[in-house]
Amino acid sequence: MPRFVIDPREFADQRVLVTGGTKGAGQAIVRRLSAAGAVTVAVARSAIPVDSTPGLFVQADLCTPEGAVTVVRTVKDKLGGIDILVHNLGGSSAPGGGFAALTDELWQEELSLNLLGAVRLDRALIPAMIERGRGVVLHISSIQRRLPLPDSTIAYAAAKAALSTYSKALSKELGPKGVRVNSIAPGWIRTTAAEALVQRIAEHSGTDEAAARQSIMDALGGIPIGRPSWPEEVAELVAFLASARAASIHGSEYTIDGGTIPTV
Ligand SMILES: NC(=O)c1ccc[n+]([C@@H]2O[C@H](COP(=O)([O-])OP(=O)(O)OC[C@H]3O[C@@H](n4cnc5c(N)ncnc54)[C@H](OP(=O)(O)O)[C@@H]3O)[C@@H](O)[C@H]2O)c1
Repeated sequence: MPRFVIDPREFADQRVLVTGGTKGAGQAIVRRLSAAGAVTVAVARSAIPVDSTPGLFVQADLCTPEGAVTVVRTVKDKLGGIDILVHNLGGSSAPGGGFAALTDELWQEELSLNLLGAVRLDRALIPAMIERGRGVVLHISSIQRRLPLPDSTIAYAAAKAALSTYSKALSKELGPKGVRVNSIAPGWIRTTAAEALVQRIAEHSGTDEAAARQSIMDALGGIPIGRPSWPEEVAELVAFLASARAASIHGSEYTIDGGTIPTV
């Protein structure tokens, strides 16, 4: 796992909300920004894992309008507002079987998780950023919005495409008002869940973890650097884009995929 030099004061007094901030990339983002002095808020459905250390944890289902209301009310009551909003929430649980297996319910679930959860929180929390004339919004998309995989992630890829397009549109509206908006498109990230998938593939196919990992990379068309990204590397990019060092970066999408996307 990579280690980076962190300025412990870079985000001092900044209030940061990270959706899905208890596992995978979200947990790494919370750790990275907390270590840099931010007051972090993590949101997830399950109780907080013992190794997670946000300043504040809100238990809510962000696929529902009620979950968004709970989060907004809690951060306004406890912190007065949010300066940096990291929409890390996302994923897919759709079954295999291609387009025909995707019912209206499954489409709705993928859109709620990967698009509407962010849209609702933005609508509630950005007006206060506009009033203050400053703020940062980051949407975690996916390379699948440009490189959709067939079989089980069609709806996920389409929802992430919508998220990236929404993020760009939002940047045009908010840039003149002092709020910076960008998105990040990761490729394969080496999360705990991804490692569990590697183990399942190895057990199912009777190979070892290296072969299973290679089979996932092959399905992606190869990863030129030969490995997935670490969650800490995604968190480092988030920290950069959220910081004053990126003050003129706005309306962009940064890809972090070890070269997986094969075109310019
Ligand atoms: N992993 C990858 O290879 C990869 C690749 C490209 C893009 N991405 C994107 O990167 C982001 C992070 O992915 P990840 O793999 O690190 O995620 P992850 O390990 O699956 O963690 C997901 C987080 O979101 C929370 N969560 C899930 N559903 C929720 C809901 N309805 N309401 C509130 N919280 C919820 C989870 O906690 P609970 O389960 O307790 O709710 C957990 O904290 C996602 O947007 C994903 O699409 C990931």
